[in-house]
Amino acid sequence: MTTLFDPLALGPITLPNRLIMAPMTRSRADDEGVPTDIVATYYAQRASAGLIISEATYVSPGAKGYSRIPGLHSAAQVAGWRKVTDAVHAKGGRIFAQLFHMGRVAVPQLLPEGVQPVAPSAIAINGKNYTDFGPIDYVTPRALELEEIPGIVAEFGAAARNAVAAGFDGVELHAASGYLVHQFLDASINSRTDAYGGSVANRVRFALEVLDAIIGAVGASRTGIKISPRIKFNDVADPDAEEVYPHLARELNARGIAYLHGALQGAYDVHAAIRPVFKGLYFAGAGLDQAKGAAMLAEGSADAVVYGKLFISNPDLPQRFADGAPLAADDPKTHYAKGPEGYTDYPAA
Ligand SMILES: Cc1cc2nc3c(=O)[nH]c(=O)nc-3n(C[C@H](O)[C@H](O)[C@H](O)COP(=O)(O)O)c2cc1C
Repeated sequence: MTTLFDPLALGPITLPNRLIMAPMTRSRADDEGVPTDIVATYYAQRASAGLIISEATYVSPGAKGYSRIPGLHSAAQVAGWRKVTDAVHAKGGRIFAQLFHMGRVAVPQLLPEGVQPVAPSAIAINGKNYTDFGPIDYVTPRALELEEIPGIVAEFGAAARNAVAAGFDGVELHAASGYLVHQFLDASINSRTDAYGGSVANRVRFALEVLDAIIGAVGASRTGIKISPRIKFNDVADPDAEEVYPHLARELNARGIAYLHGALQGAYDVHAAIRPVFKGLYFAGAGLDQAKGAAMLAEGSADAVVYGKLFISNPDLPQRFADGAPLAADDPKTHYAKGPEGYTDYPAA
């Protein structure tokens, strides 16, 4: 019977346990997208995770869209991340970079001068983006021209090469949470009539092209992907998730990637639907505690378990689970704040 404390071979690396730290935006980079020194401390404190997946990291200046998130397109960003990966490796850990483009979730104030948010189609998101200069209404994005799409795909490939240069052990494509890759998958957001819209195969095309660019840069055995069908976030609807995600999983099978990470955060049981279809390693996440995660491994419904908020407030989560030690609660007020409070000041048990 598989347990949380069994090792797992993930491509060329071996995870010492099956507790994965979820990708979590923590907003401690500088305004140029360079991780600050406390970012290295934060991740190194969590190096006992079987694998750390970094916070979402933007692939180009036009892919940004929140205040103080990190990027992976400039030399300074690579150097900043190198401090992080060195610190994690020095503590015996492993870390993948999660790459994303925010698409319509960006606001012009956080993009280079004159650059508008882009998306599959000119459909605005409702609500506000909470920036350092106050809440800003989302704008109607500009629909990407067909000729622009290869350039965005190439940005993911370049950022993946930068991830390797920065010392990451692999890359996770962020195809979840209603950002650009997810926007192409979702028929309520993508109303294109070209090769990237309409049929399920067409809407999945962008995700696969981006994934193939990442695979070309880092190799399939160091590439993962995250999905969160019907997540209640960023106006995601995924009206035909039942067709889109099994199709995507079958396409992934042909590529032999390291893992598929499913987060169950909406009215679609991604674990039940995708685990039987996907032939590689399946990481299950969202809303899980030790007992639920252990049960999923025992019954074979996942190969590893992803924990998010629990890793924020319990840097030594694997040891606490092993010892049955009490768990600390996280403080949502400090999730995206500045500085060490609620970030690097959670002690080990
Ligand atoms: C503060 C915070 C930031 C997050 N940022 C990201 C992110 O950058 N990329 C991502 O894929 N998911 C992100 N998530 C979602 C988590 O990866 C995870 O799916 C979610 O927290 C549910 O897991 P949990 O119940 O174990 O916390 C974030 C969640 C939190 C709480």
